[in-house]
Amino acid sequence: MQSLVLAVNPTDPFFTRLWDFIGVLHPAVVHFPVCCLVLAAVFIAVRWRFPQVSTDVTYYTLLIGAGFAVVATVMGFSFAAQKGFVLWWDTSSSKDETMSFHRWGGVIVTLLSLIAAGLAWRERSLPPSHGAKPWQLTTFVAAAIVALTGHWGGETVYGKGYAEKAIAGLFGYGDFPSRTPIGPAPLVLPPAATPPVSAADPVDFIKSVQPIFEKHCISCHGPTKKKGKLQLHTEELAGKGGDKGDILVPGDSKHSTLFELLTTPEEEDLMPPSDKGGPLAAADIETIRLWIDQGAHWPKGIVLQESK
Ligand code: HEC
Repeated sequence: MQSLVLAVNPTDPFFTRLWDFIGVLHPAVVHFPVCCLVLAAVFIAVRWRFPQVSTDVTYYTLLIGAGFAVVATVMGFSFAAQKGFVLWWDTSSSKDETMSFHRWGGVIVTLLSLIAAGLAWRERSLPPSHGAKPWQLTTFVAAAIVALTGHWGGETVYGKGYAEKAIAGLFGYGDFPSRTPIGPAPLVLPPAATPPVSAADPVDFIKSVQPIFEKHCISCHGPTKKKGKLQLHTEELAGKGGDKGDILVPGDSKHSTLFELLTTPEEEDLMPPSDKGGPLAAADIETIRLWIDQGAHWPKGIVLQESK
């Protein structure tokens, strides 16, 4: 998995680096409030049968869960920004869609847990009464949405449908989820964006490479979106790279992340993503390989634009 490899730019102001640091901790910290909120719901249910379980325990578990839900959600916003996801709502690819559900599920859980903790606090000053209380119901709803949000979080890492695949694997009617696609390559090969080039001739960037980038990359790595913090529409920005730093090593396609991601067997990392036309046609991949190996020459001042 490449997702935790983030290039740190030492010239960034300290607060930028601190903000990124906080984001990297999201996947580790988020399980704590998840556990507290589920546990609070369990305590509430257990107390109906065994009233000797202290309300205080339930209350403090809920309060700690709500507090850490706030912390984990803030971390999540930093992490998502580092991964190049746009704020608010985006359904332009299945990854973006899953991410939007995960993000807003997390926000809703956080708000519900704060409301539940507030209601429980008020409840403590009232005389004891029987029956389900609003704070208890709110905690149940929060715990249910925690489960869903966790599932979407899993899908952002392991891909859509991983849980269904795991169940299929358990009962023997399908394969376990895998990070590498199983079986032969798809039979329908995509058409090449530009005519094949010959290894003997220099690759003409404008004629052969530019149309590939414009058709397949600029929609996500251009002036409007910068997925993985990478923009590819000018020579300077392409040279700057993204999350993982440099992506182009002129003369060395083998060590160029850009080339590696065109051919990687890891379906999650493939560029363009598999639900967005990836992988490229073999001829286009070969064109980019030759272009990089010949020095990744980018004529001065050429700015790429998204094309369909
Ligand atoms: C549908 C959107 C989309 C398209 C189209 C797309 N990418 Fe990406 N790309 C992403 C996302 C999202 C990431 C971040 C992935 C991550 O960090 O897990 C990314 C990351 C990358 C990275 C790694 C950047 C870094 O430093 O982390 C490279 C290189 C890259 N893409 C190259 C390409 C190339 C080349 C194309 C066209 C052939 C392309 N991408 C098309 C969405 C896209």
